[in-house]
Amino acid sequence: MKLFIDTGSVAEVEEVAEWGVLSGATTNPTLLARESGDPGDIVRRICGLVDGPTSVEVVSTESEGMIAEGRALARIDERVVVKVPFSAPGLSTTSELTSSGIPVNMTLVFSAAQALLAAEAGATFISCFMGRLDDISIDSTAVVGEIVEALRGSPTDAQVLAASLRHPQHAVTAAQLGCEVATVPVKVLRAMLVHPLTVDGIDRFAADWESRPEFGDWLRGLVEAPVGAA
Ligand code: E4P
Repeated sequence: MKLFIDTGSVAEVEEVAEWGVLSGATTNPTLLARESGDPGDIVRRICGLVDGPTSVEVVSTESEGMIAEGRALARIDERVVVKVPFSAPGLSTTSELTSSGIPVNMTLVFSAAQALLAAEAGATFISCFMGRLDDISIDSTAVVGEIVEALRGSPTDAQVLAASLRHPQHAVTAAQLGCEVATVPVKVLRAMLVHPLTVDGIDRFAADWESRPEFGDWLRGLVEAPVGAA
């Protein structure tokens, strides 16, 4: 499963891009509204940092407006994927944009029935919001599992994108269910780094190594030796 970062913050993308684990990014109007600066500049910088698909959402609610916004957003950077909220006009927008070569991330998908329609309309990514389902006591694992199963039985290349992740277990569940992508907020990505046994293990290895100061000298010598020296 590929990992995208779910954010509108360039600083957050800079932080996580350094880890070498990101394949793309997703933004939404809420996330971009939290940032200062020109949204186009933010999107361009995120595209450059992740060097992969970066979703940017339309806000119109009828097809004509969504299509115009989608075409304009796609001109920001060739890595922009137009995010289109699920609805009947959203489906016709998706069909129109994808047939002119602009990839679409159909978002706010909460059922297998909606996912089947999104796939038929040509969406490249289908975003299912796990956290928002769990928030209203609908089992996100069951819904995402049903979506993955339904699409596997359909002639589609659409990728299931797990979104609205609230904790690391959501990412693990998405991978186990067969989602192709999970988009993860920085808070959850940072939480995925942490395990008390890892911290403890690093401390113990360091203490044991330091108990032999000559080993430190040996390793420094090895690091500083010219390449090719025995
Ligand atoms: C996905 O692309 C959305 O931006 C995001 O995951 C929404 O998550 P939220 O429910 O935390 O707002």
